[in-house]
Parts: sequence; structure tokens; C-alpha cells
Amino acid sequence: MSAHPSPTPETNASTPVSVARVRIHHLQKAKDEGRKFAMLTAYDTMMANIFDESGIELLLVGDSAANTVLGYTSTLPITLDEMIMFSKAVTSGAKRALVVCDLPFGSYEVSPQQAVASAVRLMKEGGAQAVKLEGGEFFVPHVRALVAAGVPVMAHIGFTPQSEHALGGYRVQGRGDGAELLITDAQALEAAGAFAVLMEMVPTAAAQRVDETLHVPTVGIGAGAVTTGQVLVWQDMLGLGSGKSARFVKKYADLRSVVARAASDYHSDVLNGSFPAHEHEFEN
Ligand code: KIV
Repeated sequence: MSAHPSPTPETNASTPVSVARVRIHHLQKAKDEGRKFAMLTAYDTMMANIFDESGIELLLVGDSAANTVLGYTSTLPITLDEMIMFSKAVTSGAKRALVVCDLPFGSYEVSPQQAVASAVRLMKEGGAQAVKLEGGEFFVPHVRALVAAGVPVMAHIGFTPQSEHALGGYRVQGRGDGAELLITDAQALEAAGAFAVLMEMVPTAAAQRVDETLHVPTVGIGAGAVTTGQVLVWQDMLGLGSGKSARFVKKYADLRSVVARAASDYHSDVLNGSFPAHEHEFEN
């Protein structure tokens, strides 16, 4: 099989995964057939439900909830209990998408046993169908233990936000010789049983080498169009945040101005007495 197979005559690269419930083997099939899939973060039931009904194949209960929902400046403070709560909300809104939940910082690094215990909680209490963990070859024993326990694992390499301080800030990883390390990590994680490898903020050429080397699907965020899947944080994708977006973000909407306009209209209506109107009142 070539690294980049051509889609079969019945499919093309943009044929969506068409199944009642997305499973990890459907993602593998997408890669095998040269098709793509899309992933978005979700942290609550309603957004999960909208993305699910829009056909998004994978929902990521990302520890980016630390930034986007809880207002922390990094992903480090979010706890396993908080991730379980977000996962519960997302899985109750998603009927078709595969829900992957992040193992938060401090919940898996100590040992493979700690990783299994935390993942079991994410699946048993949070309803997650797979977990994601950040890190390279060092985490091979953890991935092996998780897979042996029946936990599907997505590995996350390249820029790993939980290691922000060790990496010296938000920096592109895998440039120049760094590509070799990326490939070694990806191969080791695949051999340990990861069903997919996510790459964040890596040069497209390095991501392409990883994708061509691996049998399992890859997912990219700031890794170019060469990966099997793409992922974005929904608040970035829908333009909810303030400030400058990262280079890899494409804004598909400007929700911030839509919400701000609606809130300001509501405010004016309340102050000038035009809301509530007669149609919003109850009869005696
Ligand atoms: O937590 C998250 O949202 C992530 C994505 C950036 C991939 O890990």
C-alpha cells in the first residue's frame, strides 16, 4: 500500500465518513482510502450537539477548556474531575461523533498505572470513547498499558501545551533535525498501539514525513493539509475570542460580534422597556 493511497472510485478525498456512529476503524479506513476527517473541540452539550449534527467526525474534550472555559492562562491547572464533567456534557450531546477526552496534566505522567486509572475514570464517569495524551517515546509504556486495558489512545506530539514551560513557550516543533525526533516518537507511539497521532505546530514537511511513515491516521493543528484529519479549538474556528488568532486558525464566523451585538440590543431593549413585549407575557 502506498503512503498516500488514492480514494476508491466510489469515494473522493472529501467523501465524509458515512456511518451511524464513528469508530476508530472508520478513521483508519479513511486514511487507507485517502479520505479526510474533521475534529473540533467541544466542552458542553449544546455545541457538541451542533457539531455532531454538522457531521464532524471527532469531538475533542480538550484540556484547552482550561483556557477557553475556565479562564486560566495555560492548560496546566485543569483537573481530572473537571475534565470528567466536560466529557459528560459532551457525550450527552453527541450521538454520532467519536468523543476523545484529554488526560490532563498530572493525571498520567507518574506511571502507566496512573494513566490507566485516570483514563478509566474519563471513560466510566465521563463517557469518553478514547483518550488523548501529550508526549513522545517516553510514554510508550503508558500507551501500551492503556491499550491493553481497552482504552483507545490518540497520541499528541509536536508542540504539547502541557509542556509549555519545558519547551520555552508556544514554539513550532520539529524544524530541521527535529523532524527525526518527531518521526521516532510517532513510530514508537504507533507501535505501542495509538490509533492516531496528533501533531500540533510542526512544519508541513515534517508532518508529511510522519504521515507517510505511519499506518495509522494523523491529525493536524498547525501541521498543514498533509494529515488525515484536522482539529481546531471551536472558539477559534467560530471567532468567539478576542485578540489575534494563531497563524493556523481559520475563522469560519465572527461569533464575538454576533454575540456582542445581541447582548447590546437586549441591554437597550430592557433599559427602554421594549423587552419583554406583549408576546413574551403570560395571560391571567
Ligand atoms: O486541548 C486541546 O484543545 C488540544 C488541541 C489544541 C489539539 O489538545
